[in-house]
Amino acid sequence: MPNEVAQLVKNHRSIRKYKDKLIPDEVLNDILTAAQWAPTSNNFQCYSIITIKDAETKKKVSELCEGQSAIETCPVFLVFCIDYFRINMACQKNDIRFDIDQLDYLVVGAVDTTLAAENAFLTAKSYDLGGVMVGAVRKKAEQLSELLKLPRYVIPLVGMALGYPDEDPQQKPRFPLSGVAHNEFYSIDNAVSALEEYEDITEVYYAERTNGERSEGWSKTISNYFDKKRRPDIKDFIIRQGYSVK
Ligand SMILES: Cc1cc2nc3c(=O)[nH]c(=O)nc-3n(C[C@H](O)[C@H](O)[C@H](O)COP(=O)(O)O)c2cc1C
Repeated sequence: MPNEVAQLVKNHRSIRKYKDKLIPDEVLNDILTAAQWAPTSNNFQCYSIITIKDAETKKKVSELCEGQSAIETCPVFLVFCIDYFRINMACQKNDIRFDIDQLDYLVVGAVDTTLAAENAFLTAKSYDLGGVMVGAVRKKAEQLSELLKLPRYVIPLVGMALGYPDEDPQQKPRFPLSGVAHNEFYSIDNAVSALEEYEDITEVYYAERTNGERSEGWSKTISNYFDKKRRPDIKDFIIRQGYSVK
């Protein structure tokens, strides 16, 4: 018997074009509530979600995020932020020094925030919505934080454009499972052969998707990211927000 949840998860595609149709408030509320029911490290719940519907604000956010059109055209854009502001208040209340100087706090914040985001994403899909996550919210994080009035200890981690899909893209293939899911110990052999296999798969995929214009596979596409600084301002911004990361 098909499992509806597994089907929903495995049918994932990022959706970047949306119908001109609003998301009802009760649906949005359910999506945000589902985000809160993600597991959370030590019950820290160290994230916040900013909902943006206002057209002017979406336009400004889009400009700060590499001009990505999905942000401007979606009916709802969510910004998931790492948030230790409440924990700082808890420490003040209990007269305990709040010293957020360990990298692990940032990792914990990123994990909590991401789990909440994925819960929201899956719930949105269960309402026939589609969307795309947007890491570009970290591109000009300082300006975005000013726009969204983010206080100290709050860092935009990932955005999510949501709307009713107006496109039906092919699924982007994933690595062969054997190269990603290992049994009992890490198999370098499996990782190597999966990379080779995936190279062939993605060469075909990109060629089909671009009518033959693009023939390179995954490794070329991905390695292009790694010879330049992606978001050079993020470290200083994180420190200015109160994290003295060591
Ligand atoms: C954390 C994160 C950040 C992402 N940032 C962007 C982004 O800024 N712009 C975009 O178009 N897609 C973005 N994506 C979507 C990925 O490009 C996409 O998930 C990936 O290429 C796989 O394609 P699929 O989601 O259609 O399977 C992001 C995805 C994640 C998980």
